[in-house]
Amino acid sequence: MKILVTGGSGYIGSHTCVELIDQGYEPIIVDNLCNSKEVVTDRIKEISGKRPKFYLGDIRNQTILEKIFNENEIDSVIHFAGLKAVGESVTKPLEYYDNNIYGSLVLLKAMKKANVKKIIFSSSATVYGTQPIIPYVETMQTGEPTQPYGRSKLFIEKILQDLFKAEKNWSITLLRYFNPVGAHSSGLIGEDPQGIPNNLMPYITQVAIGKRPSLAVFGNDYNTPDGTCVRDYIHVMDLAKGHVAALNNNNANNIQIFNLGSGKGTSVLEVISAFETVFGKKLPWHFAPRREGDLPAYWANADKAKQIMGWQTKLQLEDMVKDSWNWQRNNPQGFV
Ligand code: NAD
Ligand code: UFG
Repeated sequence: MKILVTGGSGYIGSHTCVELIDQGYEPIIVDNLCNSKEVVTDRIKEISGKRPKFYLGDIRNQTILEKIFNENEIDSVIHFAGLKAVGESVTKPLEYYDNNIYGSLVLLKAMKKANVKKIIFSSSATVYGTQPIIPYVETMQTGEPTQPYGRSKLFIEKILQDLFKAEKNWSITLLRYFNPVGAHSSGLIGEDPQGIPNNLMPYITQVAIGKRPSLAVFGNDYNTPDGTCVRDYIHVMDLAKGHVAALNNNNANNIQIFNLGSGKGTSVLEVISAFETVFGKKLPWHFAPRREGDLPAYWANADKAKQIMGWQTKLQLEDMVKDSWNWQRNNPQGFV
């Protein structure tokens, strides 16, 4: 069965392609390579024995999408393509809304034209905004994300909900990811941020490899057990399996929302400590002021995904740091 994977050469998309192939699906990638490299498809082949068909193209280009749907009998779409840097979205709101929202609209119109009505969308825990209660559960009202990136995810969720209200023959799954980290255990694919990493795990591994001198831990006076922020880290291979579970889930004529997280909160200092155990030495780090916009603590209630899709995380923090480090060590310059 052919699955169109938008943004399939990116971090989460590439790991999902491996899992799709492993489960007998045929992923077809469309990616404009604004944040990834085509060599990823070689690595996917090295891991899984099959190279996904690759279209170089932008999802805002309707002609390319129509060509893909005409040339391939696509069953479903997993929609990863988008810009994802929270801080950058504040300085480039128009680019973020254009890419993420307009891109999703063009994709949905092309799907409708091709009569492909099953979509799995990469949403984010950011749509919860600030909630009075932790863990976050899907029945909570969404909040007010504080930046254009988060708002773009919330708008796309709303667009998909409105689409379903109007046309009940779609099958729509909104997956709200918590904090994806880790890499495939082969060390052949992983997260390859351009420039200075925004996220904790790639920053840690770049310090460990000697690319950056020291990790700044943003804030030590939060109301959390050790004063640092608490998040729900999820191994990217568990996340990839969550997409296959969503594909296998009987969701015809339906819209469903799932949190994809471990259900467990981990502090920044706990991540550093787990990394140091695998690394075998101390990591240079220091406390720095709080980062604007960071929430003190949140994690997922992931019971719904377990009950309905039979999915739950299997990999632990130790696997996440081990595989992140293995990827970084084997690819000091990322994909070259
Ligand atoms: P990524 O940047 O590694 O992958 C996104 C891919 O989409 C890249 O390969 C990029 O080149 C491509 N792309 C971007 N705009 C495109 C366009 N207009 N047309 C075609 N291709 C385009 O990011 P990722 O971490 O793999 O994230 C995948 C999705 O998951 C994104 O939508 C992101 O917002 C969402 N998400 C990520 C996280 C996270 O922490 N990584 C958390 C929550 C949600
Ligand atoms: N952190 C540091 N130093 C760093 C980087 C991060 O101390 O150099 C801390 C942050 O303050 C935070 C934690 O590590 O407490 C995790 O930060 P990340 O940037 O890795 O992840 P966030 O939780 O901020 O962001 C993630 C996703 C976003 C999503 C957001 C809200 O990356 O896509 O969750 O759900 F929008």
